[in-house]
Formats: sequence, structure tokens, C-alpha cells
Amino acid sequence: MKEAIGIKDVSKVFGQGDSAFTAVARVNINIRENELFTLLGPSGCGKTTLLRMIAGFEFPTDGEILLHGENIADMPPFRRPINTVFQNYALFPHMTVADNIGFGLRMLGKSKAEVSERVNAMLRLVKMEPMAGRRTSEISGGQQQRVALARALAPQPKVLLLDEPLSALDYKLRKEMQLELKRMQHETGITFIFVTHDQEEALTMSDRIAVMSKGQVLQVGSPRDIYDAPSDRFVA
Ligand SMILES: Nc1ncnc2c1ncn2[C@@H]1O[C@H](COP(=O)(O)OP(=O)(O)OP(=O)(O)O)[C@@H](O)[C@H]1O
Ligand SMILES: [Mg+2]
Repeated sequence: MKEAIGIKDVSKVFGQGDSAFTAVARVNINIRENELFTLLGPSGCGKTTLLRMIAGFEFPTDGEILLHGENIADMPPFRRPINTVFQNYALFPHMTVADNIGFGLRMLGKSKAEVSERVNAMLRLVKMEPMAGRRTSEISGGQQQRVALARALAPQPKVLLLDEPLSALDYKLRKEMQLELKRMQHETGITFIFVTHDQEEALTMSDRIAVMSKGQVLQVGSPRDIYDAPSDRFVA
């Protein structure tokens, strides 16, 4: 299968000298096209830092990040065909659902007709058509989550980064959204890189998982591989 994102010997060191801290340590991962790939690990292990480097908000201290085989070090975040759903959703509260979803498309200079057509398609995908005209401050947490997803999917990125997008939801809604995310990934064919510290969530949703600890990747494999043949005690 073709590689979407290649992470080659990537390290990230914050600070200098005595206060230097290695948040990501020589990570190597190949993420394939159309897969739901999960970064799983405890708080502080470097998951968000790795996502931020893929998105281009942070630069690796060492190593390379490849998109379809090309080094993207010089490509600014807004030019990367990569979008992020942040943990807190970061929606614009004074804008309607529809305007939030269309925001990225307007930034890209798409025509009014194009924006409106695409926004409608996204509203259908996340089942938010009846709420298109509501402000995002007037909808529930789960609905905000769908809008954040729709906004990130609207410009048709090749890769979608999701940083613990379900952590604010209650158990039942979380289970529902896990299935919905899988469905959307299936329907759009976009590569999803999903971050969670919840192992059950990782095992049920992922095609493959990278288990991280202290900035390192300990094991990469399918949920079955990881569950049946953990590489060490930490992974187990
Ligand atoms: N800008 C920064 N400057 C210094 N240290 C940082 C910076 N950003 C992150 N770190 C440190 O790097 C480590 C990894 O942080 P990161 O946010 O990637 O963890 P995480 O795996 O996403 O954790 P969580 O599950 O809590 O979100 C942490 O120890 C954090 O304190
Ligand atoms: Mg994080």
C-alpha cells in the first residue's frame, strides 16, 4: 500500500543546554494511504508534538517528514493538504455552523457557489443539516465535535489529524462518535491520524497503532498484533 506520511528518524528537543528536553526521540513510522492510524500513549509521551510537526506548527530538531515521499519541511502549514481537529475544537462561537464549516474554503478563495455546495455536502456527512443556521455556542458538545470535523474535512485534505477529539464527550456519545468517525473515514477515503490515551478506543477504531512512551515509539502494529504479541511489558 502507498505511503501517505513518512516519519523518518524524527526528534524534537525543546529548550537548550541544561533545560533541553527531548519530547520526541528518533521516531520512525510509515502511515499508509486511507488508513486510520492511532498514536497511543500516556500524557506527556509526545503525541501532540508529533502531530504538530506533521501539521507544520512545529519543526523537527532532526529527521524528515515526508508527504507521498516528498520532504515537506519547507511547506507552511496552510499549504499542506493536512487539516487538524484540535482537542478543544476551536470553533468560532459567533459564527453559524455553516459559516464555520465553510471557513477554510473561503480562506482558499473558493467561489460562493463552490463553498455553499461543499458546506451542504459536509452538513449531510455529519448529519447537521437541521442546525446549519445555529451559532456554534448554541449547540451541544457532540454537535460541536461534528462541526469541527466537518470544517476540517471540507477542503478535502489528504490527511486529517485528530488530537483526542472525543475526550470531552460522555461514554455513550463517545462510542457513537467512534463509529461515525470510522464511517466518515470509509466514505471520504482520507488518511486519519488519531491521537488517544484510551487503549480501548485505540483497539476498537484503528487499522494500526503506534504505542508511545517517553517520546519513543515502542511498537507499531494492528490492534491484534499489539494485543496478542506486545513487544514488552509497557505495551502489554
Ligand atoms: N513548547 C514546549 N516547550 C517545552 N516543552 C514542551 C513543549 N511542548 C511540549 N513539551 C513537553 O513535551 C512533552 C510531550 O508533550 P506533548 O504535548 O506532545 O504530550 P502528549 O503526549 O500530547 O500528552 P497529553 O496526552 O497530555 O496531551 C511533555 O513533557 C511536554 O511538557
Ligand atoms: Mg496532547
